[in-house]
Amino acid sequence: MPGDPRPIGVFDSGMGGLTVLKALVARLPHERFIYLGDTARLPYGTKSAETVQAYALQATRLLLDHGVKMLVIACNTASAVSLYLLQEAWQKVPVIGVIEPGARAGVAATRNRRIAVIATEGTIKGGAYARAIRKLMSDAEIVQRPCQVFVALAEEGWTQSPATLAAAEHYLGPLFRSPSAPDTLVLGCTHFPVLAGVIRETIGGAVALVDSAETTSLAVAEALARAGLESGAGASGEAAMRFFATDSPERFARVGAIFLGREIDPASVELVDLRPV
Ligand code: DGL
Repeated sequence: MPGDPRPIGVFDSGMGGLTVLKALVARLPHERFIYLGDTARLPYGTKSAETVQAYALQATRLLLDHGVKMLVIACNTASAVSLYLLQEAWQKVPVIGVIEPGARAGVAATRNRRIAVIATEGTIKGGAYARAIRKLMSDAEIVQRPCQVFVALAEEGWTQSPATLAAAEHYLGPLFRSPSAPDTLVLGCTHFPVLAGVIRETIGGAVALVDSAETTSLAVAEALARAGLESGAGASGEAAMRFFATDSPERFARVGAIFLGREIDPASVELVDLRPV
């Protein structure tokens, strides 16, 4: 089978979505990826839905201009406020977000039907995770917490520091010690998987931790197969990655390494400009 050699476009507000790219590359080693981080306008998590929608349209348009066969909205905030808009606008390619796969995994994991979701302010405010969970489990008890400070801590690479532990205690300690504690925690932000160790220390070993990067990679693999868009075994042997950023390739490469889990050569990051759609 010849397969479809076109790349998959992955979009995020910045470098955090590289956690999603990392999971995609691990699951789909024969695919090629173009990753765009909108570093000039990061963070999205504190911006209005209208602003994030306009940014997401521009970013995905650039990826389509580079001939991608599928769009993955790795940013939880952008997925939360713009997935349907993007699916409507770009009907010629499948557009996959991170919210639905995360919600599905949370519902599959819970035994006591209590699910906590942590994310940026923007993601929580729109209620997209709560809606997606309720669709699958109408009687679920959902606790949503914006954990904005985690974003900065992750970008600093403070994955194990006392400050991060203190923030985790502040956000999650009392909730997970209460008698009606959730048994499942959805990490609803690109940045949070790198803080999973500290979060685990705070919430204890019995709580199921749902990493939406992992669950999204599975959803992408399924969508590729469903649409007959797989590259075909042996197409490239190893996933090829191309990086675009809207500002500061040096910072993208330095901070991005925390999320991708491997070095990024700053010279390999191309600076791009986004045009209004
Ligand atoms: N990528 C964002 C998200 O997953 C986190 C960083 C930001 O606020 O832009 O929600």
